[in-house]
Amino acid sequence: MANRRLAPASEQPESFAFTPENADWAEGQIAKYPEGRQASAVIPLLWKAQEQHGGWLPQKAIEAVADQLGMPHIRVLEVATFYTMFALEPVGRYWIQVCGTVPCDVCGARDLKKILHDRLGPSGHVDPDGNFSWLEVECLGACCNAPMVQINQDYYEDLTPESLGTLMDDLAAGRPVRKGSQTGRISSEPKDAVTTLKDETLFDGSRVGAWRKRFEEQDRKDGDAGNEAKAKAEAAGSAQAAAADPKPARPDAGRPIESGSVDTPAQRAAGGQEPANPQGDAGRGDRATVVEPKTGPEERGTPQSGRSYTKTPSKPEEGRPVAETKGSTPESGAEPIASPGKTDGTQAKPVGVDPADKGPPGPIGR
Ligand code: FES
Repeated sequence: MANRRLAPASEQPESFAFTPENADWAEGQIAKYPEGRQASAVIPLLWKAQEQHGGWLPQKAIEAVADQLGMPHIRVLEVATFYTMFALEPVGRYWIQVCGTVPCDVCGARDLKKILHDRLGPSGHVDPDGNFSWLEVECLGACCNAPMVQINQDYYEDLTPESLGTLMDDLAAGRPVRKGSQTGRISSEPKDAVTTLKDETLFDGSRVGAWRKRFEEQDRKDGDAGNEAKAKAEAAGSAQAAAADPKPARPDAGRPIESGSVDTPAQRAAGGQEPANPQGDAGRGDRATVVEPKTGPEERGTPQSGRSYTKTPSKPEEGRPVAETKGSTPESGAEPIASPGKTDGTQAKPVGVDPADKGPPGPIGR
């Protein structure tokens, strides 16, 4: 890669200004960008200035573009020296930019550079006839058709040293030349025999159909799985709802009363029927349960379990036996029991009981 320097002062023009036609074009380019972003038009304006000045950018053109865009000169100079599309020195009538990046290099770009050097001398110089100058540049984006060169605005691809020499001869002589691939291939199609992408199904749509069918099957599977998951989720939701709102347990709260399916003596007695086994317990006065049919409010208190039931008095006035007073609990109004007073530690105490142990700790009484 050649150094990117401005041409010597002897080559520089005294001034530069766009032609009226190019000035209008430049204004149109600047108007594409919002207010305050006019600097975005720097590359189009530099390109037009280079075109107007015979294919290369003098220092005065760079400064004129900077002034028009309100940019410091150095900022525009940085742009012009960065991109090899801007020639900073005079070029021949045909400016040859030869790609030297890896794909072109491995396909023969070195041979192209050699023939250019042999015919034109070092890069960056115009040949004595003023027809050609050349420069090695980085990838120009036509790697599939390497090696290649750009001459002025056009690409010439699939070159060999011989075809490049012929091309230069034709250009110098003013003969028509073929742009693009010099071997006749169209665009970047395979260079020789087709070895890849030969399967017809790639192009007849059947593969797309297979893929579409596969996606449809997957969608159907996903749908089935989704329905199953939805059913599980609904079942889980029902279980949660049942737990959160349990059914009433008492009959009078709404629980259905089960019909008596067990034929028990109590049920038969309640219904005024004879015991099912008159020779059994019912015939034994010591074991038989005497149940009298009940009516009225007490009937509602009868359990539904079907077991025999005999009401037991719960109050002394109803006949509940009263136990004799035991222990040391004083009765109301009685004299308190005398305290045994202090002990000397010799009294018998329960085995395993530590008199110092006051019981388990607790929030009260400690
Ligand atoms: S490497 Fe030469 S055009 Fe891309």
